[in-house]
Amino acid sequence: MPAVEIRPGIYWIGVNDRTTDLFEGLWPITHEGVSYNAYVVNGKKKALIDLAKDIKADEFLDHVTEIVDPLSLDYVVINHMEPDHTGILTTLRRIAPQATILTTSKAQEMLQGFFQITENVQVVEDGETLELDPFVLQFVSTPFVHWPETMMTYEQTQRVLFSCDGFGGYGAMQGTLFDDECSSADFYERESLRYYVNIVAAFSRPVLRAIDKLEGVPVDVIAPSHGLVWRKNPARIVELYRKWAGYAQGEPELGVTLLYGSMYGNSEKVMNAVAQGVSEAGVPVEIFDVGRIHVSYILPAVWVNKGVIVGAPTYEGHLFPPMAHVLDICERKRIQNRKTAYFGSYAWSGGGYGEFSELAKSLKWEELDHFTFHGGPTREDLKHGEAFGRQFAEALK
Ligand SMILES: Cc1cc2nc3c(=O)[nH]c(=O)nc-3n(C[C@H](O)[C@H](O)[C@H](O)COP(=O)(O)O)c2cc1C
Ligand SMILES: [Fe+2]
Ligand SMILES: [Fe+2]
Repeated sequence: MPAVEIRPGIYWIGVNDRTTDLFEGLWPITHEGVSYNAYVVNGKKKALIDLAKDIKADEFLDHVTEIVDPLSLDYVVINHMEPDHTGILTTLRRIAPQATILTTSKAQEMLQGFFQITENVQVVEDGETLELDPFVLQFVSTPFVHWPETMMTYEQTQRVLFSCDGFGGYGAMQGTLFDDECSSADFYERESLRYYVNIVAAFSRPVLRAIDKLEGVPVDVIAPSHGLVWRKNPARIVELYRKWAGYAQGEPELGVTLLYGSMYGNSEKVMNAVAQGVSEAGVPVEIFDVGRIHVSYILPAVWVNKGVIVGAPTYEGHLFPPMAHVLDICERKRIQNRKTAYFGSYAWSGGGYGEFSELAKSLKWEELDHFTFHGGPTREDLKHGEAFGRQFAEALK
């Protein structure tokens, strides 16, 4: 995709990444891809805003060169130091050493740590403006959206907010950058939620603080560093982010995430009975086999639904390991205040439930119910599972 003008004199010059399998070395994006969006503001003075990961440096520099000679760049604005936005900084510095890096004071320290860059760096303060003629950049400190050094950059004349990770999402560009041209809004919204929960959710308070801080700033275009550029309905992605961030403290939605794992199908049989019970109560349910589905895809459901039912057998005196892993990640992502219940099979002394109960406590999830059964489920066990699911779902209402 060549450079794209997003507003007169303002260009997208990012790259699509369809070859990285794991974002942050952790979250699968093999199928969905991701974009590293970067921008040129081409005034009398010229600025690059954000860069990209250190893949496809040639393509990135080709995009820049379509718009401006790199040697005529005056500034490089670094909103965020994570290497998905700074990876090609060393290369750019070799090519365009004259361009002054503009960034926060925290990022200045990181520039030294990551790239040993100390020269030609200028720290910008919260609210400070910079004339590019006719464009005017304003820097807005938004710490912890996603790292402590993070800021956003607002272009005042065209009302473009370069929000970096904020309002971003997974999903490489499918032929267009823009929310009004893309034919797969559902895909981008789903992938924005997955990105939010995987990457940003632990910083939900700072996200809400940033949204509040930007209240009253007239924004015509939200130009994040990952995912769609929102020019038709920029409020849409802000509202989604506000809603998702709100789930960290307030009530999430009425729904059950039914997590199960099963070695020989015993807990799985009961899972089906439990799902039936939840459905009878008219509550939406999302089912995940924790042994097969990567936790990246499970987290959005746990984030959005207020109920989590855990079904897994005992394994060597403890909870089935893939289930323990998913609950551990939920704790690391600070998914709190859910209602939960456990079921699972065992063959001798059990132990799965005990570990679940401990994990639920440290997650600050309220345990409503549990039941265990010996080996394969009897008819009675299946009936019990159905009632257990129904009662759990009723209790959520
Ligand atoms: C590797 C392995 C370890 C197990 N460890 C325990 C255990 O420590 N305590 C126990 O009560 N049952 C243990 N079991 C028995 C299982 O919990 C039991 O077979 C259960 O029915 C499996 O349910 P599933 O078909 O849903 O996987 C173990 C089974 C396997 C295969
Ligand atoms: Fe980041
Ligand atoms: Fe990022």
